Amino acid sequence: MDKIELLQSVPLFSDLSQSSLKKISERMVTRSYHKGQIILMEESLGETFFVISRGSVKVTRMSDDGREVILAMLGEGDFFGEMSLLDGEGRSANIVAIDEAEALTIKRSDFLEILEQFPKIAIHLLEELTRRLRRSDQQIESLSLSDAEQRIAITLIRLAEELGTIKGGAVTVRNLPYQQDIANMAGTSRETVSRTLKILEEKGYIERDGKALVILDFMTFCKIFS
Ligand code: CMP
Repeated sequence: MDKIELLQSVPLFSDLSQSSLKKISERMVTRSYHKGQIILMEESLGETFFVISRGSVKVTRMSDDGREVILAMLGEGDFFGEMSLLDGEGRSANIVAIDEAEALTIKRSDFLEILEQFPKIAIHLLEELTRRLRRSDQQIESLSLSDAEQRIAITLIRLAEELGTIKGGAVTVRNLPYQQDIANMAGTSRETVSRTLKILEEKGYIERDGKALVILDFMTFCKIFS
């Protein structure tokens, strides 16, 4: 897939004409990352905006006691790195490649110019930032209110929304993150994640096959656990 085709499939750039996409793509550089590579470091200076063209990344911060807290997982078509470019502060989080990943990158001055030139991109950006804020609000609520099992179920719902594909009411996450990563998202231990996944499987809510996880009836699962 060439850069223009790729941009066309990214929600941020939908609505733009071929010629606009061409102009934007000419300013973008493709970069590759290996599994586990730190792409951005918390508090470092921000000069680049990223659109994921292949693979997925995790957004993390370190807690005071040295644990990795996962704020979000981002997949193909998602973007990151906009916050520092907009407010001039350091990077708000680390970005780490979960598997082999590739991103289209654009430098700060070009990014800001594109936002001014194409207000539709700015609107899509705001829509996505609003979605992220809502998710963070839900995460704060779930961390303070529910027990570990429910937090894990809510984390699975989030992963399904962020990385899953839907078919006939079932949502499949093809490449489920490691249990330690799910634990870090839910604020619990890897052992509790392992135990809870087994219970959910025995109760018929989910199925697992290697790295894939299927939530069989997504609507019902959401009603029960969120
Ligand atoms: P920036 O602060 O430049 O660098 C780190 C990036 O992580 C940040 O921009 C956002 O793109 C992304 N990020 C930070 N917090 C979240 C979140 N809660 N959900 C999704 N992405 C986030």
